[in-house]
Amino acid sequence: MIIKNICCIGAGYVGGPTMAVVAQKCPHIKVTIVDINASRIAAWNDKDLTKLPVFEPGLDEVVAEARGKNLFFSTKIEKAIDEADMIFISVNTPTKTYGKGKGMAADLKYIELCARQIAKVSQNDKIVVEKSTLPVRTASALKNILVNTGKGVQFQILSNPEFLAEGTAVQDLLMPDRVLIGGESSESGQKAIQALVDIYANWVPKERILTTNIWSSELSKLTANAFLAQRVSSINAMSEICEKTGADINEVSKAIGMDSRIGSKFLKASVGFGGSCFQKDILNLVYIAKTYGLNEVADYWEQVILMNEHQKNRFSDNIVKTLYNTISGKKITFLGWAFKKDTNDTRESAAIKVADNLLNEQAFITVYDPKVVKERIYADLDYLNTRSEEENRNSVTVEKDPYIATNASHAIAVLTEWDEFKTYDWRKIYENMQKPAFIFDGRAILDTKVLEEIGFICYKIGSSNKVKN
Ligand code: UDX
Ligand code: UDX
Repeated sequence: MIIKNICCIGAGYVGGPTMAVVAQKCPHIKVTIVDINASRIAAWNDKDLTKLPVFEPGLDEVVAEARGKNLFFSTKIEKAIDEADMIFISVNTPTKTYGKGKGMAADLKYIELCARQIAKVSQNDKIVVEKSTLPVRTASALKNILVNTGKGVQFQILSNPEFLAEGTAVQDLLMPDRVLIGGESSESGQKAIQALVDIYANWVPKERILTTNIWSSELSKLTANAFLAQRVSSINAMSEICEKTGADINEVSKAIGMDSRIGSKFLKASVGFGGSCFQKDILNLVYIAKTYGLNEVADYWEQVILMNEHQKNRFSDNIVKTLYNTISGKKITFLGWAFKKDTNDTRESAAIKVADNLLNEQAFITVYDPKVVKERIYADLDYLNTRSEEENRNSVTVEKDPYIATNASHAIAVLTEWDEFKTYDWRKIYENMQKPAFIFDGRAILDTKVLEEIGFICYKIGSSNKVKN
């Protein structure tokens, strides 16, 4: 089975970069990415590559190379489905906000809509690939819908979870640690797996392409994210102990990371993990465990999220306590709003929760982030529904220049680890701030010694601080 035509439903952070790389590496395959969001598609088609809806280092070059040749962005969903041999589903699967499993289970309504649309349109056999992270056994629901509402054509379902991390998406796609493909053990299932293996084999070494049964593939994605998030919560738990005992979390991370059984990655203490996946996927896992009556398993994983909430709250509590227990009317500057550096994505960013807590204490917040636009920041705050849109706009200002953003501030809080923060003229910033001038480094990226020499009072996550808490 040779694939000549691919359709991907969902032109988001996953679908866009993934398919752009597939198109670049497989010039013999036509790749069409479709989305119900017309303005998003228009942005993907914009001649000005700085207007792409997803910011990822290197993505503009990949898009420039393939777009218009064998990579297309379109809103004509049915046409693209009809023409394709293989359809990737890459739509979002947010946590349910209603009904059974509210706040925990994945909302599969978009996935189901896609399945029904595929069934309605398809006139010949298709391979349907789950790219979105889904609860285990979603593939069987997908198959049911496809078979029961389709026109009698054959569907093969594959699970091919995405492991790319935002900010390094292009590199992760070009040189993945592994590609995971799950499918049925039947002959046609194996043929479908092979068709997808052949696509990746255009640039990924064969030994890195792993094939499994479909449930293992679905569960592996949730497991990978749960393990990664658990590492962050574990190191963050240690960061609090460090602050009390005089140990330094960066030193502890280095020391334990040199143990090859532990490994050095994902041991950076922070103000808390964010991103569209970690919380959602763990909640999903917790829900699955509860559904099977595995309460201890559910509690175990839920603790990773509770620790993360604690980390965000103790960061904002510490700011309030340090600024003499009142921040009412004080200006606090946020450096960074994105959930990590090198992305314009803000989903579940720790900055949102920290801002919400400080706004509850009537602070004025000014935000500077190199890539996040003003509208996004206000939308994140409005979505919380904790105060009116007007109140958010009165209390929060967004600046495009870090020196203006920090002018006359009482305190700076570093929420994202953008590299440029390390290169600022900190003396100039200090001079223009209110005194005493405080810095709360939630990413432990700044050189505290230099800052203290300038005159700042520094708090750095995970080290014994001048600021006593
Ligand atoms: C999403 C999921 O969040 C993640 O769990 C999964 O692993 C991959 O897909 P992401 O690409 O980051 O990740 O989501 P998002 O940027 O929101 O993109 C989804 C796109 O799907 C949006 O552009 C949305 O408009 C589109 N969509 C959604 C459709 O085209 N059709 C729908 O029915 C629903
Ligand atoms: C994650 C997974 O890494 C990826 O494989 C999966 O496909 C999607 O979810 P992503 O959410 O893009 O990717 O970013 P990731 O690099 O995992 O970071 C998640 C959060 O953890 C960020 O807020 C980051 O700042 C934080 N983090 C990460 C830490 O606080 N410390 C670390 O050591 C690593």
